Amino acid sequence: MPLIEIDRPSGTVLLHAAATCYALRVDPAAGTVRTVHWGGPVTPADVREAQEPEAAPDSFSAPLDGTEELAVDGQVRFAPPALDVRYADGTSAVEPVVDGYDVREEGDSAELSVSLHDTGRPLGWRLHYRVRRDCPVIERWTVLRHTGERGQPPLTLLRHSAAQWNLPVLPEYRMSAVHGRWAGEFQLRRTPLAVGETTLTSRRGHTGHQSNPWIALDASDATEEAGEVWTVALATSGSWRMTTVRSAEGRCSVLGGSGHEGVEITLAAGESWTTPVSTGLYTPGGFGGASRAHHSYVRDHVLPAPGEPRPVLCNSWEATAFDVTFDGQRELADLAARIGAELFVVDDGWFGARSCDRAGLGDWTPRQTAFPEGLRPLADHVHGLGMRFGLWVEPEMVNPDSELFRERPDWVLHLPDRTAHPLRNQLVLDFSRPEVTDWALDWLLRTVDDFAVDFLKWDFNRSFTEAGSAGHRPDARRVFVEHALGVHRVLDELRAARPTLRIEACSGGGGRVDLASLARTDQAWVSDNTDAVDRLAIQHGFSQVFPAQVMGAWVTDSPNPFTRRAVPLRFRFHSAMAGVLGVGGDLTRWSAADLDEAAAYVARYKEARATIQTGDQYRLGTPADPSHAVQYVARDGAESVVLQWRAGPAERARAPRLRLRGLDPRAVYRVDDDSGTPAAGTVRSGAALASHGVPGELPPGDHASRMLTLRRKS
Ligand code: GLA
Repeated sequence: MPLIEIDRPSGTVLLHAAATCYALRVDPAAGTVRTVHWGGPVTPADVREAQEPEAAPDSFSAPLDGTEELAVDGQVRFAPPALDVRYADGTSAVEPVVDGYDVREEGDSAELSVSLHDTGRPLGWRLHYRVRRDCPVIERWTVLRHTGERGQPPLTLLRHSAAQWNLPVLPEYRMSAVHGRWAGEFQLRRTPLAVGETTLTSRRGHTGHQSNPWIALDASDATEEAGEVWTVALATSGSWRMTTVRSAEGRCSVLGGSGHEGVEITLAAGESWTTPVSTGLYTPGGFGGASRAHHSYVRDHVLPAPGEPRPVLCNSWEATAFDVTFDGQRELADLAARIGAELFVVDDGWFGARSCDRAGLGDWTPRQTAFPEGLRPLADHVHGLGMRFGLWVEPEMVNPDSELFRERPDWVLHLPDRTAHPLRNQLVLDFSRPEVTDWALDWLLRTVDDFAVDFLKWDFNRSFTEAGSAGHRPDARRVFVEHALGVHRVLDELRAARPTLRIEACSGGGGRVDLASLARTDQAWVSDNTDAVDRLAIQHGFSQVFPAQVMGAWVTDSPNPFTRRAVPLRFRFHSAMAGVLGVGGDLTRWSAADLDEAAAYVARYKEARATIQTGDQYRLGTPADPSHAVQYVARDGAESVVLQWRAGPAERARAPRLRLRGLDPRAVYRVDDDSGTPAAGTVRSGAALASHGVPGELPPGDHASRMLTLRRKS
C-alpha cells in the first residue's frame, strides 16, 4: 500500500503510517486545506463525506475555526492564527490561494507538500509532511517565503507555527504535560483542558525546565494501557510556544512553533524561513503506548547514533565541584575504573581562572595551577585505565571576569541601552553571529584533538534576559530562536568533523532536552537533583516523552548533598539503572565494601543495559503509588528487566503482586530477582506473569528496591 494515497474526486490526501492515518482535504476553490481525519486507519471512502464545513449559522461564527492545517489571520476566522503576517504598509488579513501539492515517496518514507500564497501579496508558504511506514509519528513543518522582487519592502511574520494539529471532536479533552523548575524537572501533570487557549512556552532562549515542548491529549478516558491518545511535540531548542485551543463549540487544536509571543521574523524579498519540525502521534494504546511509540521514533529517526550502548560514566561534579586538580581527578578516575565505569568525565572547573563560578568561562585552556602540563596526561591516564575521556564545556557562556569578555565585550547578547543582567555571574554569547560560532567551533575542535576527548558534556546554565543581537534590527528578538540554531550548527559541524565524538546535552540539568537537541547529541543530563527518590518522579515524567537510552542518571552520595535524604546504595543504583547509569558521588569517601557493591551493580547493569536502553518500556504504576516499577522488554522478546521501588514505609497490607506487561503469554521465562525472592531459577509462563504477577515481593523496610531479570526459555 502506498504511504500517501490521493482521492482525487474529494481532493483528499491520506497519509498512512504504522496503524494510523492522517487525512487532509485540499480545496483550491475555497482556498483551504483542512484536516479530515487523525486517528486509526481509514480508506478514502471513510473520509469522503467527512466534515464538510457547515454554513455559518450566524454572523458571529467561523466554521473554519479549528479545522485548517495552518489557519491564517484573515477572512472569517476568529481562532488564534497559526500564521499571521504584517506587510510594510500595515496590511494583514491573509487571503490564501492553494497552488497545488506534491507527493514524493521513496522506500519506507514519503513526503507531501502543499503550496499556498497570499492573494496579490508577496508571501508564499508550503506545508510539509513526512510519514514513515514503521512509525506512527507524522512530522510537519512549514517554509515561508517573501516571493517579491528585490527592492520590495520586507514583510514581518508575527506568528510562524510549524503546524496546526486538529483533533477529532471529543466530548471531553484532557491534557498531559511535563512541568517543573531547576532541580525538579519533568513533573507529569494531567488536567482537564479548559475552554480557551492554554499556552505552554519558553521565553528563555532555551527549551526550559518549566515546560517541555510536548503535550498529550485524550478524551479523559485513556489509561496507561489503553485508550486513544494524541501527542504533539516541537523539535526546537530556543524559545517556543505551543497553544492548545479548545473552543466552546467543542473543537480542539494544537498550534506552535519556535519563538515566544512577540518573536517576529522579518523577511526581505527573496528570503525564506523554515519552521522547526512539529511531530504528531496518534495511538489507541494509552499513555504507555504513546510513550513507547515516541521512544521508537527518537531511537529510529532522531538520535545520531542509536545503535550504540551508552557507556557507564563517572562524573566529577558532585565529588570535586570546582576543586579540580590533576591528582584529585586521577584518584577519582582510578576508583571509577575499579567499579567498572567506561567513561570518565571531568566536569566544570578545569579551565581558565575557573576555581569558582565567578571567573574563567570563555577561556578554554586548562587551568595552569590544576593541570601544569595540560589535560593530556589525565586523558592518557584515563585511557590507560580502559575508559573513555570526557570533558564539561559551556561554549555559549562567558564570565565578565574572563579574558574573552575583556577582548570581546560586544559578543554577548544585549540591548544597547539596557543593563545585561548576569545570572550565575555569566552572560550569554550571541551564537546567532557566525564569528562567535566560528570561534566556538575552532576551540572545541582544538580541545577535542589536543586532549583526546571522546565525550563532551555541553552545558548551558542561565536563561536569556535583555537579549538582542548585533545590528539591533527591529526583529532583534529573533535571537531567541536563532541563537539555538547557531548552537545546532556548531554541534552538527563538530560531529561531522569528529564522528567518534559523543555529546551529552545539559542545561543546568534538564533545561534543554528536546527533539532538536537529541538529533545532535547522544544523551541528556536530566536534572541537577540526584536524590534517588526525587529522581523517580522526574524519570516518570521524562519517560512520557523520551527513551531510557538518553536519560542520564547518576548514583551520588548519601545523604544526598542537595536534599540531605539518606538512601541505601542499593536503592540509589536501582533508581539510576532505569536510564543511562552513571556514578557521580565522591568515590574517594566510599568504603571498600561500597565500592565492591557498586562494582557488582555496574556489572549487572552492563548485562541488562541493552534491554533497559533500547527495549520497550512499560510503566507499572507511578511514583505516587506505595511502590511502582518500570519494565523493559527487549525488542526481540528474549529478555525483560524490571526495576521496582518503594520509597516510603512498607504498607501494612500486602502489596499486590507485580503483574508484568509485554511478555509472550505462551512463552516460559526464568525469573531471577536480585533480592533473592523468588529463588534463582524460578520459572513461570508469560500468561502467569501477566495475570498473577511475579512471585515474591519487595524486601521490607524503607527505600526497598529490587531488579528482576526474565529470560525466555521457550
Ligand atoms: C550545571 C550542570 C551540572 C554541573 C554544573 C557545573 O548545573 O547541570 O551537572 O555540570 O553545571 O557548573
